[in-house]
Amino acid sequence: MFRMTQFLQELITPTPVGPRRNPPGPVVIWNLIRRCNLTCKHCYSISADIDFPNELTTPEIFTVMDDLKQFRVPALILSGGEPLLRPDIFDIAARAKALGFYIGLSSNGTLIDESNIDAIAAAGFDYVGVSLDGIGATHDKFRRKEGAFDASMRGIRLCHERGIKVGLRFTMTQDNNRELPQMLDLLEREDVDKFYFSHLNYAGRGHRNRKHDTVHRQTREAMDLLIERCWEMVQRGTPKEFVTGNNDADGPYLLQWVERHFPDKAEHIRGKLVQWGGNASGVNISNIDNTGTVHPDTMWWHYPLGNVRQRPFSEIWKDVSDPVMAGLKQHPRPVTGRCGSCQHLAICNCNTRVRAMQTTGDVWAEDPACYLSDEEIGLAGQGIQVVEVA
Ligand SMILES: C[S@@+](CC[C@H](N)C(=O)[O-])C[C@H]1O[C@@H](n2cnc3c(N)ncnc32)[C@H](O)[C@@H]1O
Ligand code: SF4
Ligand code: SF4
Repeated sequence: MFRMTQFLQELITPTPVGPRRNPPGPVVIWNLIRRCNLTCKHCYSISADIDFPNELTTPEIFTVMDDLKQFRVPALILSGGEPLLRPDIFDIAARAKALGFYIGLSSNGTLIDESNIDAIAAAGFDYVGVSLDGIGATHDKFRRKEGAFDASMRGIRLCHERGIKVGLRFTMTQDNNRELPQMLDLLEREDVDKFYFSHLNYAGRGHRNRKHDTVHRQTREAMDLLIERCWEMVQRGTPKEFVTGNNDADGPYLLQWVERHFPDKAEHIRGKLVQWGGNASGVNISNIDNTGTVHPDTMWWHYPLGNVRQRPFSEIWKDVSDPVMAGLKQHPRPVTGRCGSCQHLAICNCNTRVRAMQTTGDVWAEDPACYLSDEEIGLAGQGIQVVEVA
């Protein structure tokens, strides 16, 4: 996860560069339920409107939570499927809050209405993220449900009215990339707090439909727009939180923008980016799925590490007998190809490993969605094949 606004804010009010981040326990993205009222084209959890067997019960969830607390996990992102379909969602949230976790709700927003907004407000979510993958019919098509856009907008507005911090989450593919400008207009018009821009990851239906991923040129155009809009807001003193996910090459890409526009500040930003340290799967970001199976992060459902019914999360997470976990925790990671030779490896940490694994079978191969040119990663002229940025 790349916090763009924070880095652009550094151009105005720099803060000291510290050591590489090393928080006590990982953030847990917890898919509490796999059932969903939508069937989006890109869904990593391959959710559908059916009951999935063997999901964790409320008491099991509470037991896991105690372990997470003593393991110093700072935050739980309650997700799904659609988490609001779990009848015990507010009990789970209340318990998490009582234990002192930061809690986020990751929802498609369509089920947020007058009947439950009081309960959502009372649960004390620190943040509610609502997915919105385009305007009107574009969103409905992406999410494969007519009326989904209007329902999600109603959810966003209700949260906003109740003073709940709310964000739009937009996953970009060729189906919706042209609407990014309108999405950013909507963000400002509705005065939404946060914009989470997600690159497509090749997981679940997102893997099956990966031919719809944007080409590198389109990704670069989207990043240029995001950086410009974010910078305008930072300069005006009214910044929204811009965060990107699923492509840590966004860090070096922002650095290049700073080098072009504020060359005297580039070294400071580089220091800050190294402090951030790029991809955190298997280290500072973790995942528990609906059946209690632990994964290196939420895009890794094809890769189980163990189950909380058999072993506490804290033990599974520390166990580096698994070769993938050992490699993810290694610094630098044992990557090959362009990533292995990249001058930005200390910033990007070789990106999500999921796309490389899904497309080549080799978890340490280069990321096919890295949109930086060979020249930009310091390879041009070294006799290594130049991959066209197009
Ligand atoms: C699996 S959903 C669960 C929460 C809720 N149902 C929703 O859609 O917001 C969590 C987030 O992951 C995003 N997502 C799902 N599959 C993805 C993929 N293959 N690549 C990137 N983001 C993905 C969704 O758009 C959503 O914002
Ligand atoms: S992305 Fe979210 S809303 Fe869409 S099918 Fe998956 S779980 Fe449901
Ligand atoms: S080549 Fe790999 S390490 Fe370098 S920026 Fe691209 S994804 Fe990151």
